[in-house]
Amino acid sequence: RLLIIDFGSQVTQLIARRLRELNVYCEIHPFNKVTDAFLAEFAPKAVILSGGPNSVIDAGSPRPPESLFSMGIPVLGICYGQQVMMQMLGGQVETGRGTAEFGRAYVTPTNEHLPLLEGWFIADDDREQVWMSHGDHVSKIAPGFKVYGTSPNAPYAITADPSRHFYAVQFHPEVHHTPNGAKLYENFVRLAGFTGDWTMGAYREEAIRKIREQVGDAKVICGLSGGVDSSVAAVLIHEAIGDQLTCVFVDHGLLRQNEAEEVVEMFRDNYNMPLIHADERELFLGELDGVSDPETKRKIIGKLFIDVFQKHAGEVGGARFLAQGTLYPDVIESVSFSGGPSVTIKSHHNVGGLPEKMGLKLVEPLRELFKDEVRALGVELGLPKSFIGRHPFPGPGLAIRCPGEITREKLEILRKADAVYIDQIRKHGLYDEIWQAFVAILPVRTVGVMGDGRTYDFACALRAVTSVDGMTADYYPFSHEFLGETATRIINEVEGINRVTYDITSKPPGTIEWE
Ligand code: XMP
Repeated sequence: RLLIIDFGSQVTQLIARRLRELNVYCEIHPFNKVTDAFLAEFAPKAVILSGGPNSVIDAGSPRPPESLFSMGIPVLGICYGQQVMMQMLGGQVETGRGTAEFGRAYVTPTNEHLPLLEGWFIADDDREQVWMSHGDHVSKIAPGFKVYGTSPNAPYAITADPSRHFYAVQFHPEVHHTPNGAKLYENFVRLAGFTGDWTMGAYREEAIRKIREQVGDAKVICGLSGGVDSSVAAVLIHEAIGDQLTCVFVDHGLLRQNEAEEVVEMFRDNYNMPLIHADERELFLGELDGVSDPETKRKIIGKLFIDVFQKHAGEVGGARFLAQGTLYPDVIESVSFSGGPSVTIKSHHNVGGLPEKMGLKLVEPLRELFKDEVRALGVELGLPKSFIGRHPFPGPGLAIRCPGEITREKLEILRKADAVYIDQIRKHGLYDEIWQAFVAILPVRTVGVMGDGRTYDFACALRAVTSVDGMTADYYPFSHEFLGETATRIINEVEGINRVTYDITSKPPGTIEWE
């Protein structure tokens, strides 16, 4: 396996993405965790040093352990990683006005041949676009190194000591704006001896073996939300330990049309999994009665969920493990230099605290995967494609798509409108282009005219966004024709709505959900 030492770059995760795409297994660990002992224990086959915001010239700036360079393994340094390598191996780094580079730059090859660059300088004009983001620059390369590529502001854009397999580049090959960057990683892992055998099939076998080893003959409970992560986790664990696993599905009355039935049918009937269907609709809706403050709604739902889950999980009796669909981005310890507390925009609904409260140990078979890898694993496990490609759905459900007071009447109208909207999106073949689409029912009634009569019904807002990770988003540019047709269908088919609007706010400044 390959080790990525993180020095705090914004794009370290992208390095891992590029490597996973090459079927190479890697892990990211923050520099302050990587000691000599850690390196010896991890025994990486190769190491990548990420970029980072510090200046190597500053006293106390982060360093990898010295022992890294005597392990006899390939090392690739990127940006700060390059500078730290040069500094530690006997070169020099300077900070200087006029040599900073941010954004697009072009690297030109020198006359030396380097296997790392095979298939790289192929453009007609023999220079490659790269993405730079550095204030400091290397001013003297370390003994044993040669220069293989230069840019106007980074004379040492690509340097290497091929005999030791030490490579160091000033730019970021992992980002989209270095169009051929993936090739560098491909060459690097090939030179390091990786064969690219880390496939989903292999992961599945390995995960099953680990689950059996961890759990033994103990019972496991799993909170199933119907979302992709918990579903894939449940199917995988069920494959490993069969009926030692019981799933608990909580229906809080805030699900979409037919959602509860679909989830129960799929897991109980199709997968033959022991499943507790906890119908707690009355409890949740009762507690939410009269509540309109968004944070209060979230807190009530979060607390009730924990209580209810605990109650039903207790019915299993003697369970020792709790399964969760935790993903890799949730567990990577990020390097934080600012350290200040960040503002809570929304308190996210999750089951944090449950394992301690219930005295259960965690089984988290997806901890090493990114979201798209979880989807690939789901396909590998035979989950239907339509299920795996479903848009994310928030834990508090329709409660946060119903600004103002939640009533059963509004929820019913919202479900119907949402179903028509999603049907439209699917019919027009747009579902997979959109990160998330839903209807929010607005807490206003407006006047309309239908036939010869006056109507006084609710208005709703359609939302559809594109995004890669939900952190930032843009509204989806539907055609006017699509919007018109959808509005007409909703008003004709859903009693209780007489006005449809389209939300064209990006995130930021908006959030994806309305509350
Ligand atoms: P926002 O509205 O914050 O949402 O832009 C970003 C993404 O997170 C989802 N979301 C949640 N997911 N529990 C969840 O599991 C929550 O409490 C929650 N709130 C928002 C939202 O649907 C979007 O995908």
